[in-house]
Amino acid sequence: MARVLEIAEMGREILRARAAEVALPAGTDLRRLTADMALTMAAAEGVGIAAPQVFAGVRAMIVAPRANERYPDGDAEGEEGVASFAAFNPEIAEASAEMEEDWEGCLSVPGLRGLVPRHRAISAVWRDAAGNRCAAELHGFAARVFQHELDHLDGILFLDRMKSLRALATENEFNRLMSERRGDAE
Ligand code: NI
Repeated sequence: MARVLEIAEMGREILRARAAEVALPAGTDLRRLTADMALTMAAAEGVGIAAPQVFAGVRAMIVAPRANERYPDGDAEGEEGVASFAAFNPEIAEASAEMEEDWEGCLSVPGLRGLVPRHRAISAVWRDAAGNRCAAELHGFAARVFQHELDHLDGILFLDRMKSLRALATENEFNRLMSERRGDAE
């Protein structure tokens, strides 16, 4: 049975360390870790999670770019349609020069949201649990989540990517802003 794990919050050293490559195919421990990460992410309404966030310094992450309570816009534009996947030893093979700013939060940075520039499109490569090479062209929200989670494996938090901390908001204010925006759109 998978368990909900404790989430490391900003200030913990493991969130600032480079995670180690994993050996594949995944053994029992790595498979259990991945299942626990998926459950922990779902319980916290996350759209992605990286192993260092649950105190495991390995290059494993889950990308789940679906709309939910915390990310109501998620993939609502209907352009991505990317199912959630676990990625081991992930990399970005190519990235668009074009950047896009949008709001991000992080389970390890509770209560805050910030405007973060990311590559609009990326060629992502990774290994699945069996060790097979996987590749996908990701754009928009899915590309954003992949970049955010990959950063976790290199000790980088979304705050480090922000152009200015003036584009930081509390979750309460972010929610107010979003509901105002939805109101304007109607
Ligand atoms: Ni995060």
